[in-house]
Amino acid sequence: MKQFGLLLVAAVILVAFSIPEDKEAIMAKGKKIYDEKCFICHQPEGQGIPGAFPPLAEADYLLADKVRAVAQVLNGSNEEMLVNGITYTAPMTPQVDTKEEAVAVINYVLNSFGNDGGWVTMEDVKDIKIIRE
Ligand code: HEC
Repeated sequence: MKQFGLLLVAAVILVAFSIPEDKEAIMAKGKKIYDEKCFICHQPEGQGIPGAFPPLAEADYLLADKVRAVAQVLNGSNEEMLVNGITYTAPMTPQVDTKEEAVAVINYVLNSFGNDGGWVTMEDVKDIKIIRE
């Protein structure tokens, strides 16, 4: 009986760890951040403003590298970039304070505005360092 109890505990722990992240909660958190902070520049449907603010909807640049996107939202971005054939040069300052927020908002963007961009996990972004000057 004692062994059975131990087995049961092990099984419960295994199941608990295999439950996927609560995607709905992450999407809701990401939407809230987007609606508070991002839409002003990237626009309500992620369409951006050509030449000024790059699109997030069906953006080849974004969809090419999800981890880079999380890093950009967390640490800002100041590089010339080509997004859907248009060059952008204006910098973006850091937009969120934590990796959890950056992951949530990027997952929201990857799965909104017509994007079917997959999912990024905390594990995927574990090597990103938060840089503040
Ligand atoms: C004040 C305007 C502004 C705000 C607010 C802003 N961005 Fe940006 N964003 C920019 C600009 C400008 C660039 C281009 C940066 C560069 O060229 O290095 C950019 C680039 C990006 C990129 C990479 C380009 C692309 O098309 O994939 C991502 C991803 C991104 N922003 C996501 C976000 C998210 C998510 C938020 C909200 C948390 C946000 N941005 C808020 C102005 C803004």
